[in-house]
Amino acid sequence: MKPFDHRKYRPAPAVPIEDRQWPNRRIERAPVWASVDLRDGNQALLEPMTVEQKLRLWDLLVELGFKQIEVGFPSASGYDHDFLRRLIDEDRIPGDVTVQVLVQARRHLIERTFESLAGVRRAIVHVYNSTSTVQRERVFAMDREGIQALAVEGARMVRDEAARYPETDWVFQYSPESFSQTEPDYVLEVVDAVTEVWQPTRDAPCIINLPATVEHATPNVFADQVEFFCRHVQRREAMIVSLHTHNDRGTAVAAAELGLLAGADRVEGTLLGNGERTGNTDLVTMAMNLYSQGVDPELDLSNPDAIIGVYSECTNLPVHPRHPWVGELVYTAFSGSHQDAIAKCLKQQQGDEPWQVAYLPIDPQDLGRDYQAVIRVNSQSGKGGSAFVLERDFGLSIPRWMQVELAGLVQAESERIAGEVDSRTIHRLFREHFLAADASPRLEGYRMDRSGGVDTVEARIREGNVERVIRGEGEGALSAFIDAWQRHSGQALSVVHYQEHAIGEGTGAEAAAYVQLGIDGRRFAGAAMEHDTAAAPMMAVMAALTRARQQDGQAA
Ligand code: KIV
Ligand code: ZN
Repeated sequence: MKPFDHRKYRPAPAVPIEDRQWPNRRIERAPVWASVDLRDGNQALLEPMTVEQKLRLWDLLVELGFKQIEVGFPSASGYDHDFLRRLIDEDRIPGDVTVQVLVQARRHLIERTFESLAGVRRAIVHVYNSTSTVQRERVFAMDREGIQALAVEGARMVRDEAARYPETDWVFQYSPESFSQTEPDYVLEVVDAVTEVWQPTRDAPCIINLPATVEHATPNVFADQVEFFCRHVQRREAMIVSLHTHNDRGTAVAAAELGLLAGADRVEGTLLGNGERTGNTDLVTMAMNLYSQGVDPELDLSNPDAIIGVYSECTNLPVHPRHPWVGELVYTAFSGSHQDAIAKCLKQQQGDEPWQVAYLPIDPQDLGRDYQAVIRVNSQSGKGGSAFVLERDFGLSIPRWMQVELAGLVQAESERIAGEVDSRTIHRLFREHFLAADASPRLEGYRMDRSGGVDTVEARIREGNVERVIRGEGEGALSAFIDAWQRHSGQALSVVHYQEHAIGEGTGAEAAAYVQLGIDGRRFAGAAMEHDTAAAPMMAVMAALTRARQQDGQAA
């Protein structure tokens, strides 16, 4: 074989199910969530959490609304034991929250586990053993009967040990580890044998947890496995079927979602997907996926930045800026067409109508993010990005023909600095190019007379040290001023585009005027912002004339 040779691998076998029902279903409510951050997540860390860190993460999980939390492997880890004891001894477990502990199907470990739980009000004892072909054959060197006997023995020991602590309300959980790589008929044999021991009932169900310990197939195969299991397992009505998917192929969330369609009731996973190798099912993503479909996720994820803060503090892991739903960049559009579309949709979105904004699957404000972060401008952005920023931050609604020209300036600036152009820079570019504060000719003052059938203007103009009065008439300030300028200069001016709007309200309001002039066959844009609404168009014309002069000067 060559060094990189796909023939080394085999595809996942198909599941013997033909009339699968899961593709026709929808997820209509949240599953029972079980966090395994403090166990599976913790065991994957370079530096496992200290007791103090675990307490911090515990508090967060409780605050978010998790009702089942796996706290560790107390028989195998001193930290986990001490942490569990603090939870119990310091009465930190709220009445509606159940702790879960993991243990292998081995007597001394099971005994120690129950000892470490002494005094707890309610607990899930989670026992597991590996059932997959490769584990049976290559790790344990045991046949199917031998592995099943281990599981049954584990189930018996858990049952018997629990009976020694009758003051606790016990729930038993069994995981056929590597479920997804175990023959479907064999999983049934093992689980049926375990529940035969436990004799769960509808009122006192056990939990059967189905792990994709290593994800090795497309999520539809996992869903087939779960549906096959749910249909054929004995005592289905007396068990909560739980999923525990890992993310080796990058589809742990998808597998868990399809597994729910296939009949499961509960999902184990971690915040932001921390866990062995590529991680566990990311419960934040999965819950937000539900939320974005109009389903109550039954977890309060409204402050992801707080979640990220505690997560990073406890795991020492960063969160990717493009992490689904919560990454720093996920509500940011760089591309011009996206920016355009977002700006249009946001403008039209009404308070309580269903969310319909292109490129934004949810309202960022739901997660405490604001629109400030939505649009950022770089050299890939088109006219829409800069226009959006000017309107959002400065109240300037610049017309399309000016947007095109401004976009060129912004792009050049972005290329020059090789990066993002911030809102203040865009505003500066706009002012420098279109407002012409040092306009020459400059409008020093004016008088308008609107008493006759036509408007007349007398404008005082300064060019260098020379001040003169020019006169013209027309309909409105703009046309009267253009007339005055033409008479004075002999230049042929035409107004190609003109637009104005108010900025702000009341006495503090300003008029923004944008004009594009045709001057001797060429086009020049200018803008002005003035409290005086008649002066604004005249100032905008002066700005455009100044730009024409500057360009002629540069060309000369
Ligand atoms: O991934 C896994 O199979 C596990 C089990 C112990 C449930 O973490
Ligand atoms: Zn796991």
